[in-house]
Amino acid sequence: MILQGKHIVLGVTGGIAVYKAADICSKLVQAGASVDVIMTEAALAFMTPLTFQTLTRRPVSNDLFKLLDSTDMAHISLAKKADLIVIAPATANTIAKLAQGLADNLLTTTVLASVAPLVLAPAMDADMWAHPATQANVATLAARGAVIIEPDQGRLASGRMGRGRLPSTEVVLGAVRQTLGRQGPLAGRRILVTAGGTQEPLDPVRHLTNRSSGRMGYALAEAARDAGATVTLISAPTGLPRIPGIEHVAVRTAGEMARAVLARTGQIDILMMAAAVADYRPAVTAMDKIKKADEELFLELERTEDILRSVASLPEGQRPRMVVGFAAETSNLLANASEKLSAKRLDLLVANDVSAADAGFDVATNRVVLLSQGAEPEALPLMSKFQVAEQIWLRVQRMWSERYG
Ligand code: CTP
Repeated sequence: MILQGKHIVLGVTGGIAVYKAADICSKLVQAGASVDVIMTEAALAFMTPLTFQTLTRRPVSNDLFKLLDSTDMAHISLAKKADLIVIAPATANTIAKLAQGLADNLLTTTVLASVAPLVLAPAMDADMWAHPATQANVATLAARGAVIIEPDQGRLASGRMGRGRLPSTEVVLGAVRQTLGRQGPLAGRRILVTAGGTQEPLDPVRHLTNRSSGRMGYALAEAARDAGATVTLISAPTGLPRIPGIEHVAVRTAGEMARAVLARTGQIDILMMAAAVADYRPAVTAMDKIKKADEELFLELERTEDILRSVASLPEGQRPRMVVGFAAETSNLLANASEKLSAKRLDLLVANDVSAADAGFDVATNRVVLLSQGAEPEALPLMSKFQVAEQIWLRVQRMWSERYG
């Protein structure tokens, strides 16, 4: 996990969204980061340092002139050891000070004294956010390399509706992880991941689908983002939350997924086909709900397009430089998987036995075997789907550097 062992400075400034900063702080700590919280005077009016002290098990700083030890000024020591500074919520006032390079409190001084990446999560009244002064300040900071998380639209503290809400903890943590991973092993790679089980409609209220939860594909997309890649996720309906920092493309059927993938194959480096794509669809989709009758009902099914086979037959230059497929099997895992590896011209195939209770559909863990041409199959132990995703990217990255340097 990218946050493990990282030093994060969490700046908390004075706005009603301060209470959400406690959740952000807690999630950073849970992900393995050591978090130093700096509160401004205005933030102290909304919440006491005890909350953050308890969550981080570290002192909370707010005094510019307090010596951390006999030789270190707090702002210098925090500034230098930070791997990243995130300010959430960031008020219009603090944003203005940062844009001007002011250093009038411990937080602004720490930012000025640090070369660590800066992530800002502005939260304020909608008119303050929309004000040309704030917009100009945000643009200045973005031009200097700060990552700005766009505030959410919704009900504000004033009771009015507008843009100015602090986005969810997941969005803030997503931006932090993505920023930390910018120079990661997949930096510069454009990756397309597919996920979920496609749905093939029978009539307006029924469809044929499969038990894929989409979790493996989502974990792959998230892990690729954390490793520095530019990620597009083409997803069949899953009910999983959107992953911040990546492009989402929603599809439903195998046909829609095929069109969405084939429209992008020329612009990507790596295709990761984790979706469970239907092999058959109803030959006709009824316009109206099919009514029951006394006699039996037979469904006629026709083949869908095999997306990986279509990708395999693209001319050189149109094909992504690496193509990874998945094989969900219930028997003869290795034999079936190696057959798919060559039939679909794959660089790597991830095979899993979906009949196992702790792997495959609807569970948080997976146990897979990695197959590539000319290499012994590599069986990975049982791990969380996110850890499996990280291992798959590690293997992809190794193969990529062997081939392309
Ligand atoms: N796949 C695809 N297009 C389809 C069906 C599957 O691109 N119409 C991809 C899947 O995303 C996966 C791989 O092919 O990466 C293998 O899928 P799987 O269903 O295990 O294999 P199939 O080739 O469909 O063979 P079978 O169902 O007969 O085992």
